Amino acid sequence: MQIVKAEFKCSSAKVSQVPKDDLRDIAFIGRSNVGKSSLINMLTGRNGLAKVSGTPGKTRLINHFEINGKWYLVDLPGYGYARASKTTVGEFSKLITDYILKCEKLHYLFVLVDSRLEPQKIDLRFIEMLGMNGIPFGIIFTKADKLSKSQLQKSVTRYGQVLKEQWEELPPMLCSSSEKGVGREEILAFIEKCLSEC
Ligand code: GTP
Ligand code: MG
Repeated sequence: MQIVKAEFKCSSAKVSQVPKDDLRDIAFIGRSNVGKSSLINMLTGRNGLAKVSGTPGKTRLINHFEINGKWYLVDLPGYGYARASKTTVGEFSKLITDYILKCEKLHYLFVLVDSRLEPQKIDLRFIEMLGMNGIPFGIIFTKADKLSKSQLQKSVTRYGQVLKEQWEELPPMLCSSSEKGVGREEILAFIEKCLSEC
């Protein structure tokens, strides 16, 4: 898929503020600093479209970016960062859980995990919550430029093994480097398929 138009639509502090049209959302979630906003910039080829920072907790609101006038890429606040939010439902903010569990616009969710790290408990708990609620999702391993090909493969395999302890079937798993543009074609092709399927 070609992205010919990518523009910021709005930031929402509550789910009631998200756009009231029938364009579908493809959203990115994950721990603070994992690279959600960077990935949105890489996919759209527009540096600075989503705000990136080395300090965790940069994205605090739900940000909608309209793509090709047809669907939205959605940048969500990160979880796992103590100062990120005051209202929480367990360890995830109410904004995140309200959006994920109640927003009908959400069509598909990518959970981003840092490819350099062992599976993190908070991500596994988040994934479990998605499973329990039947939310369709895939996993993207970020910052792949920081690992060799074989280390990356090992990391993905390891993640799969841990998930297999809980899940019968593994979710789709993709790799990315926003720094090097790795994974762009695969992720966009996946999104295209996802949007065309229903
Ligand atoms: P929050 O909004 O705080 O939840 O963070 P985020 O998940 O949106 O992360 P963001 O995109 O702001 O990136 C966090 C840091 O990681 C920044 O310093 C980025 O430059 C860096 N980063 C993101 N993606 C990559 C990548 O693919 N490779 C490398 N080497 N660094 C990356
Ligand atoms: Mg961000």
